[in-house]
Amino acid sequence: MQMVASRERCTRHFDIDRYGVAMELRDALRTTNAVREFRDLAISDDTLFAILDDARFAPSGGNRQAWHVIVLDDPQLRARLQELYLDGWYDYVAHLLAGLVPFSPLASEEDRRVAVAKRSDAEAASHFHEFAQSLERAPRLLVITADIGSLAAVDRDLDRYTIAGGASIYPFVWQILLAARERGIGGVMTTMATRNEPEVRAVLDVPADHAIAAVVALGYPIRTLQKLTRRPVAAFTTRDRFNGPAFDL
Ligand SMILES: Cc1cc2nc3c(=O)[nH]c(=O)nc-3n(C[C@H](O)[C@H](O)[C@H](O)COP(=O)(O)O)c2cc1C
Repeated sequence: MQMVASRERCTRHFDIDRYGVAMELRDALRTTNAVREFRDLAISDDTLFAILDDARFAPSGGNRQAWHVIVLDDPQLRARLQELYLDGWYDYVAHLLAGLVPFSPLASEEDRRVAVAKRSDAEAASHFHEFAQSLERAPRLLVITADIGSLAAVDRDLDRYTIAGGASIYPFVWQILLAARERGIGGVMTTMATRNEPEVRAVLDVPADHAIAAVVALGYPIRTLQKLTRRPVAAFTTRDRFNGPAFDL
């Protein structure tokens, strides 16, 4: 009994030590932003490997780990990917100029038409395009694909846009960014290239049963962190019912 008790004490002590680490995790959770401007400094294969080696512990539905990562180094492939990304990006900016939520699944036909009509204005709005037009020069570019047949899309039979399948992939993508942060590296998860998924597949020899889930740009940030703009807990949390009182302290 005595031994068990002391082992329990050890375990508790170990947990308390781990809480010290958790404080750093909390900082990371509250301050990991989207970084789109990078110093002209390479990320070694060793460092990138270590980032992926941490990220792979991400959760996924049924632990299927349906992700595949393409480390994109070839300059010609990078340039082509940037073109395909830019095309999606211009569509995104067109939505913004039209005052619409970009790519909302609930957009009406009229919304779609309005956004298309803004496309040439969007292409001319050069102040929006700095990152998109320099994507190919990011120190590291990762294309994350998802094996569609291995996704737990529990909502696949509902009469609405499906969302649950992506939940088996994006924690992994986010974990890449957190693991990068741990090493002083910043980055951004992007999805604009998915607008042109068939072309991206063809360029990178991605099989038809894989979706292009994200392109992640990584590099050492130029700027120091700024405070993140996020809604407070009570703005999105309610008690008991969706329309219940705000969960606040
Ligand atoms: C699913 C998802 C898709 C995103 N796609 C893009 C993208 O295509 N291009 C881009 O520049 N940023 C993209 N972002 C980054 C968001 O713009 C960014 O996370 C958000 O604006 C918050 O930025 P902050 O952390 O710097 O405040 C994406 C983020 C997520 C989570």
